[in-house]
Amino acid sequence: MQISLARQVALVTGASSGIGAGSAKALAAAGAAVVLNFNSSAGPAEELAREINDSGGRAIAIGADVSKEQDVERLFAETLDAFGTLDILVANSGLQKDAAAVDMSLDDWNTVIGVNLTGQFLCARAALRIFNRQGIRQGVSRAAGKIIHMSSVHQRIPWAGHVNYAASKGGIDQLMQTLAQETSHQRIRINSIAPGAIRTAINREAMEGEKEQQLLQLIPYGRVGDVDDVANAVVWLASDLSDYVVGTTLFIDGGMSLYPGFRGNG
Ligand code: BGC
Repeated sequence: MQISLARQVALVTGASSGIGAGSAKALAAAGAAVVLNFNSSAGPAEELAREINDSGGRAIAIGADVSKEQDVERLFAETLDAFGTLDILVANSGLQKDAAAVDMSLDDWNTVIGVNLTGQFLCARAALRIFNRQGIRQGVSRAAGKIIHMSSVHQRIPWAGHVNYAASKGGIDQLMQTLAQETSHQRIRINSIAPGAIRTAINREAMEGEKEQQLLQLIPYGRVGDVDDVANAVVWLASDLSDYVVGTTLFIDGGMSLYPGFRGNG
């Protein structure tokens, strides 16, 4: 079945690399006009926008720190200026600042919660305001708007040495479900994706050689994920093919969240 997002506008935060860049590319390939948000890496986001435009799509790159309210307001205003509407938000920006809890600075706690959780709230709020004003765009989508929160297996699996990150992802689960409960009667669809170990440029080192073998013990399906494993699901969740999917988290993790250590054990 062919998925078409023609005449729809998607905003992807954290789109300069990894899952964000892959999702933006896939949304554009499905026909959506795409806003590529970046924070510090303007170059790669602008390059990707160029690539999409050169291949017949429509894309622009906009810088904004999603943890800052004013930046987020400007990001959404510039999105409307450029494309006139918004149908899909992929709230993807996220970062890690790892340390044992006893050594973790308040700054590193606040930075991670600020981007990963507050940032997703600010972006969702801005998108919801647009969706409310606009309602269902007849002939474009059955929903009045779609939000996809990028979570992690660590919304479920505790992760020693990463308490700020795990807490932010646990928070996304309730953020997403509460927003979905609050808005689904308006035909707004909000869901999350919880990726497991996905190979990206940023984490390549942790997924090579001996490290990869160690990691594979946590993945019953026996391989590390690719960006496309997630990007394909983003496109599906953004499309009417998933029109009855509301307030749920799709784990894309090769079975990592099945607690494989319990196989033949416990
Ligand atoms: C993290 C990855 C990690 C994976 C599984 C993800 O949320 O971003 O660095 O490999 O969870 O632990």
